[in-house]
Order: sequence, then structure tokens, then C-alpha cells
Amino acid sequence: MDTVKAVKTDTAKLTLNGQEYDLPVLVGSENEVAIDINRLRGTTGAITYDNGYGNTGSCLSSITFIDGEKGILRYRGYPIEELAGKSNFVEVCFLLIFGHLPNKKELDDFHYKLTHHSLIHEDMKKFFEGFPPSAHPMGILSSMVNSLSAFYPENGYDVDIELNIVRLLAKIKTIVAFSYKKSIGQPYIYPRNDLGYTADLLHMMYAVPSEDFKLSKVLEDALDLLLILHADHEQNCSTSTVRMAGSSTANLFASISAGIGALWGPLHGGANQAVISMLEKIKADGGDYQKYINMAKDKESGFKLMGFGHRVYKNFDPRARILKASADKVLNELGVKDPLLDIAKNLEEIALKDEFFIERKLYPNVDFYSGIIYRAMGIPTNMFTVMFALGRLPGWIAQWKEMRENPSARIYRPRQIYVGEIQRPYVSVDKR
Ligand code: ACO
Repeated sequence: MDTVKAVKTDTAKLTLNGQEYDLPVLVGSENEVAIDINRLRGTTGAITYDNGYGNTGSCLSSITFIDGEKGILRYRGYPIEELAGKSNFVEVCFLLIFGHLPNKKELDDFHYKLTHHSLIHEDMKKFFEGFPPSAHPMGILSSMVNSLSAFYPENGYDVDIELNIVRLLAKIKTIVAFSYKKSIGQPYIYPRNDLGYTADLLHMMYAVPSEDFKLSKVLEDALDLLLILHADHEQNCSTSTVRMAGSSTANLFASISAGIGALWGPLHGGANQAVISMLEKIKADGGDYQKYINMAKDKESGFKLMGFGHRVYKNFDPRARILKASADKVLNELGVKDPLLDIAKNLEEIALKDEFFIERKLYPNVDFYSGIIYRAMGIPTNMFTVMFALGRLPGWIAQWKEMRENPSARIYRPRQIYVGEIQRPYVSVDKR
């Protein structure tokens, strides 16, 4: 039995090879409709073909709701705009993972645990030392998260999953900060229990042993907002990867490490880094926006407008709206004048008036403005996707946990349509 439910309503009719089949229809709590094909192959012998899974629901989930046509995003029913304006990242982590907003005691306890599990085993420092200085921090992050499974193994089923969840959330900020320090050749700074989650992350990234650390409230608030906005996004590429790996009952750390690898690509979380490279290129090229818009429209060019388009949003990505406003505010408060922000705004304006983008409903996504804020915060470009991963962690954990706790969860194992050679005899090497 599924722990989360969809209501069975109508049936859909399928005619195949002259025979008619009734397929159950499921409706979710926001009236999303799905044809249930769980018994399709068993009854008809056929499978579905859905390149890139654009029409496939892989699970029932009660964590995040997106209406891409209307530009709606809600975590556990709460609109992203409200959470961005009123909540904080630690509270959002609790909400996503445990399903409700924590009361004061729950929040204090959770915060205490996230603080007191933030040290990493001293032996892990040797792993950091082994990486070359040029190593991409996403590769380091993925390896480090996976290596936590060596320190906190899941032996059989007798494991305190909640403890490992807390450990991962607590230690990832230390790992992220150590990756950053490694990349710039500065000494590692240890976590401080008197600081909040985001403040401690900034402290571990920016403090140096030679002087006192002054926490910037502007940076803390900006980072907290970014983390909230990235915290979950239902069954995207990296989250599906976490579920895919976790469906074999692989441990939490291994499953999340797989998701970090999936996030790295420029079509997904790596887009925030790619956006900055693109804006820099446009700037170096004299700011000829139209040239790049034309290139993006020309399929032969191999160029895409990075930070534009989304599989689900066919309207403004609500996170991009919030970040565009935040970019203005943060840069202003920090006294940073970044020509890339003007280039981004101009590019957006031209693209949104262009028939190619209008027809295809291509809007700026979360990555279009996030990089500009990270830049203003002094975070190097190759760390942007790492910051995204840190923000997405509670979502990955919540999705992994939901699957683990679902007694009817099955191993993920899609099928295929084979289009290769049909059977042929082996030819020995002297005859080839
Ligand atoms: N620039 C130019 N054309 C685009 C872009 C873009 N950024 N995005 C989509 N298109 C075009 C496609 O070429 C296609 O045109 P066609 O119908 O004439 O063939 C049409 O719009 C539909 O796009 P698809 O590629 O089919 O959309 P899909 O859902 O498969 O891909 C994706 C979504 C990967 C996000 C795509 O829009 C893209 O590559 N964007 C740029 C990378 C990016 O910003 N990724 C971050 C996404 S958000 C996130 O993961 C956090």
C-alpha cells in the first residue's frame, strides 16, 4: 500500500491490435490526472515510450507541488513566495523532510542537532588533501558525501535513518566550506555552535585564522533565501537520480552522492555556472545581445540561452521572479555594481519579446539570476552548483525518505525499445 494516495476515478480506454483495455485513471490532490499503466505490460504485452520521461509520473509524492502553466511552486502546500518571505532554511528543511512546520521545541531540537553534528571526522581531511587544486568542487562534494557512508554505515536494516539525515544536513555545510577553502588554498575553518546554519556556513567559508570574523547580515539573508528557493523541485533530474539509486535500497549517502553527480550537468544545476560564462562572453563580445539571441534560435549553432527554458515551467519560474528582485536588492546593499546584471536584464527583455521564445514558452529559470547573486557574495563561479546542491539537499532527503518509508516502493527499472541488430552469428577475429 502506498503511504501517499491518489484517488481512482474514471477509466481510460486503450485500443491495441483491435482489442480494448480499460486503464485506471488517478487524480492527485491538485487535480493532476494520470493514466495508471502499472498493469499495462502484463495485460497488453506493450510498454510506453516516453523520451526523457516528460509524460511519466514515477511516484506518488506529497512533498512538492508545481503547476508549470501557472508558475506555482509549493512545499508541503506552502507557497514558495510565503516561505521565501517569512521562513528560514532550517525550518524549510524540517518542513520538507518531516511534512509539517516545526513548533518551537521541534525547531530548537532540530537546530541543536544540526549544530552538534557539524564536525566531520578528522580522517576526512586527508581526502580533501588528495584532490588536485584544479578539482571541480562538485566532484569533491559528491566524493565526500559518498565517503560519509564509510564513517556511518547502514548495516542491514538496523539503522537510525533520522540520525544519518541529521548528520548529512549538518556535515554538508562543513564539507562545502572545506571544498571552498581547499580550492583557494586557505586553512580549513571549523564549525561554530553559536551560529545559525547559514551564518556558520558563511563563517567557515570566509573566516581566516588571522583576524576576527564579521558576519554580514546581508550575505546571511541572501544565502538563506537562495537555499530556500532551491530546497526542492519534485521529480527533476537529480531528485529522480536520488530516487533511482535509493530504490535499490542503497544507503542515504550513496543515493545523495548520485544526485549530486546528476545536478552537476549544465542542463540542470550546472546552468548557474554556465549563465555567468555566457554573460561574460556577451560582455567581452561588446554586448551584442541580438547576436546571441539569434544564435540560440539557430539549432545548428549548438548554442542555448543558458538559464532559459524549463521542462515544467511554461510560464515565469516563480523562483526566478524572486531572485531577480533579490539580485537588485543584494547588489545594492553590498554596494556591488555588476555589468552582468544589466546584460542579464537586457537579454531577458529581448528574449521575452522574441517570437521564438514566446512560441516555445521559454522564460528565465532559477539559474538565470542566482549566479549574479553568488558572484556579488564573492563566491567563485565553480562553487555555484555546490551552493545549489546544499540548498537542494533537504528535498533530496525528503524524497529519498518518502520512498524508503513507502511499503509499496519498487526498484526503479525502466524498459526500452530495442532497435539494435537482430541475432547474428559470432565472427572470429581473422574473418572480420
Ligand atoms: N535556448 C534556446 N532554445 C531553447 C532553450 C534555450 N535555453 N530551451 C529550450 N529551447 C527550445 C528547444 O530547442 C526546443 O525547440 P524546438 O521545439 O524547436 O525543438 C524547445 O525550446 C523545447 O525545448 P526542449 O529542449 O524540448 O525542452 P526540455 O524540456 O527537453 O529541456 C531544458 C529543458 C533542459 C531546461 C532546456 O530548456 C535547456 O537546455 N535550457 C538551458 C539550460 C538551463 O538553463 N538549464 C537549467 C534548468 S533549471 C534547473 O535544472 C535548475
